[in-house]
Amino acid sequence: MTAQLLDGKAIASHIQQTIRLRVQERLASGVRAPGLAVILVGRDAASEIYVRNKRRACLETGINSFFYDLPAQVSPDELLSLIDRLNEDPMVDGILVQQPLPPQIDQEQVVERIRPDKDVDGFHAYNLGRLALGIPVLRPCTPRGVMTLLESTGVVLRGQEAVVVGASNVVGKPMALELLRAECTVTVCHIATRDLPEQVARAEVLIVAVGHPHLIQGSWIRPGAIVVDVGINRHPNGRLVGDVVFEAACTRAAWITPVPGGVGPMTVATLLSNTLDAAEQLHR
Ligand code: GUN
Repeated sequence: MTAQLLDGKAIASHIQQTIRLRVQERLASGVRAPGLAVILVGRDAASEIYVRNKRRACLETGINSFFYDLPAQVSPDELLSLIDRLNEDPMVDGILVQQPLPPQIDQEQVVERIRPDKDVDGFHAYNLGRLALGIPVLRPCTPRGVMTLLESTGVVLRGQEAVVVGASNVVGKPMALELLRAECTVTVCHIATRDLPEQVARAEVLIVAVGHPHLIQGSWIRPGAIVVDVGINRHPNGRLVGDVVFEAACTRAAWITPVPGGVGPMTVATLLSNTLDAAEQLHR
């Protein structure tokens, strides 16, 4: 078998096109464009690239972006009072604080300070709690983007064996909740999982979000599986590689995401969807 590509770049571009038209309709009817505030603290190289992509996508869709580039030494109070101001700003529908944050800043405190109706990352306990209850409001971007990719295959997810490798708050845990909501039978693997190859081999839907290059061998993949690789790692040769050995996995999977060009663009497009949803459904 040679896997079909799950072309995140193309699907994300289609989503952005739809958002662009919706923003134009709003403007034509005299309603302001949605607004997204993006806060970057310090000079993390990967974060700078992610934030640049998010800002570019805002420009392309007509979403207003308000960018805050804070020094790495910023005090917790300064960051929290900026969030307080943005929480009250009627031009701002979404607030995103790019992670990771420097050590003097308490990440949980920052996430909890963002008003849940502006938490377009979907990281606030309110939004994760709503997702866990099966009544989501703002859903974390990467897992929501992965669900869009899975839906694009046309495969019925109900009853499928889904295995999530990685249990982070940002991807693994909300991903498991999304798959549960889609009525998959869900297994979550993490650092203490005893026999990872055995778990992976059961997966009809495999989502890998660890950040460990080539952790998942092609020979572990169940024939016919859908494989979604959330990992983006810099190989010593300079190339970007995922958490899955792509070429080998292609010989067994039915569907697979490339790295880059799979999940990454979907996260950005979904952030814009969440910002538009916040503007339309929560801030009318
Ligand atoms: N760092 C890595 N991924 C993300 C994300 O989706 N949102 C934010 N805020 N920071 C991140």
